[in-house]
Amino acid sequence: MIEIIAGTNRPGANALKLAGIIRGYYRDRGREANILSLSEMPQEIFLPSSYAQKPSSWKVISDRVLNADGLHVIVPEYNGSFPGVLKYFVDMLKFPESFERRCVCFTGEAAGIWGGFRAVEQIQMIFGYRNAVMLPDRVWIPGINQKWNAEGTGLAEEALVARLRDQVERFIDFVERNKGLAAKAAP
Ligand SMILES: Cc1cc2nc3c(=O)[nH]c(=O)nc-3n(C[C@H](O)[C@H](O)[C@H](O)COP(=O)(O)O)c2cc1C
Repeated sequence: MIEIIAGTNRPGANALKLAGIIRGYYRDRGREANILSLSEMPQEIFLPSSYAQKPSSWKVISDRVLNADGLHVIVPEYNGSFPGVLKYFVDMLKFPESFERRCVCFTGEAAGIWGGFRAVEQIQMIFGYRNAVMLPDRVWIPGINQKWNAEGTGLAEEALVARLRDQVERFIDFVERNKGLAAKAAP
């Protein structure tokens, strides 16, 4: 299973809207994908005690990452970087098996002109440190608020849709080739 991670807990986030659209592209290629929004992170995980002892409510999220064949991370740009909550999400997941040899790909998005370019490059440093297997093909979406169709339900720009579909196709193939390398959750 591929988990599409909407990399923020901001209400009304474009990341979550994009995750839904990208899930449609996976379905068009005959692949089911789940959406994991960081807004699903339980409140208890934000207690300082969670560094030492994870709340029981965290296991369902943690296991979704551990059982994923691939993680497609939507990375919003916040202050020229990725959201702090996305780093906290990474910090709370099981070390080292959550990302060790797990397939990951990245789609950046921002209101501004850089389209999450720096955000993606910065988070790739972390996934590189964690020995993730990363798809070389990344997509950046500048001016995200101008990309929606009139109804706000889909992307209006054909060239962008083509780039995202191409990334999805490449990631499906990449995951097929590499998915056996990562650990799964203990039952
Ligand atoms: C805390 C915060 C910081 C932001 N910093 C930037 C930024 O540095 N560059 C930029 O282009 N947009 C910035 N934005 C706008 C986001 O890129 C914009 O909200 C975009 O839709 C992606 O985030 P979203 O998935 O939360 O919607 C920022 C938004 C927030 C909430």
